[in-house]
Amino acid sequence: MRVLVTGAGGLLGSKLVEVLCAKGHEVYSGYLEHLPPKGLPLKFDVSNEDEVGRAFGASRPEAVVHLAALTDVDRCEVEKELAWRMNVTGTGNVARLCRRYGALLIYASTDYVFKGDRGMYREEDEPDPVNYYGHTKLKGEEEVKGTVDEYCICRASVIYGSTPAAGKTNFALWIMERLREGIRIRVATDQWISPTLNTNLSMMIAEALEKRLIGVYHMAGATRVTRFEMAKAIAEAFQLEGPLIEPVKMEELSWKARRPRDSSLDVSKARGALENMPLELGYALKLLKAEMASPVKS
Ligand SMILES: NC(=O)c1ccc[n+]([C@@H]2O[C@H](COP(=O)([O-])OP(=O)(O)OC[C@H]3O[C@@H](n4cnc5c(N)ncnc54)[C@H](OP(=O)(O)O)[C@@H]3O)[C@@H](O)[C@H]2O)c1
Repeated sequence: MRVLVTGAGGLLGSKLVEVLCAKGHEVYSGYLEHLPPKGLPLKFDVSNEDEVGRAFGASRPEAVVHLAALTDVDRCEVEKELAWRMNVTGTGNVARLCRRYGALLIYASTDYVFKGDRGMYREEDEPDPVNYYGHTKLKGEEEVKGTVDEYCICRASVIYGSTPAAGKTNFALWIMERLREGIRIRVATDQWISPTLNTNLSMMIAEALEKRLIGVYHMAGATRVTRFEMAKAIAEAFQLEGPLIEPVKMEELSWKARRPRDSSLDVSKARGALENMPLELGYALKLLKAEMASPVKS
């Protein structure tokens, strides 16, 4: 399949293009600043409709995986106009071009569309975001639903992976780096998540694309944990200094944006629809360790 991936140099995108290329798809890797590791690179800004039009003209995609977004939750809270332009205007542009080209659209969304008052959210539960990032991602979902008939919205939660991407670390790598350097870290005991390994999510997205899965799916890890429990699990899996992880409450962390207390996701719908199922945290960490021991060469 001819596939255009936006945000292909990011944490999820860099792994997804690796997976799609290995499966033999013709992959066009959209980026803005960070050159993606695989696929035919296409530099364009998703918030600029003309540039998006030219990228579609060059790639003529049968399917598009739209990952490009401003993902820094605190920055979205402060720079609201920029967040809207990237996450809502950008998604609207991509969705309209998908309609024009008859391309299937897969859109990566987030557990942060939910309020977080109870957790284990299902696809049909009512979203009610508590911060601006979640608000813009929800508006992005609405752009997708209102524009194209053939779409798949994949909601994930706290994505992590073996390699820094787009010039940034990720939650799992940050924990490993700090603990290896002997630095104490403060991690929340009152924030529940469904941590998602980028490789597992990439396999699920690739399958969704090949099966032309339509609708909203929670494609996250299968284990509900607090951030603190996840940090401890990483320390154990990688034989690092667990005692350096200090338990704190969310209110003690100097975040600019509010976080949902429990935005864990129920993944039974994805489990029923896919052969590549959401992985339990323990198994995902074993995979992560194996990936870090023998990284894929680009
Ligand atoms: N990370 C998580 O925990 C998480 C959880 C749930 C859902 N998601 C969603 O999953 C998707 C991927 O997340 P991620 O963590 O892989 O993000 P990421 O590492 O921050 O990568 C996002 C990419 O978007 C690109 N981008 C930003 N603005 C752009 C623009 N105007 N035009 C073109 N490209 C632009 C950036 O490209 P350059 O680097 O080239 O500038 C960047 O590589 C996002 O839609 C996010 O909302 C993420």
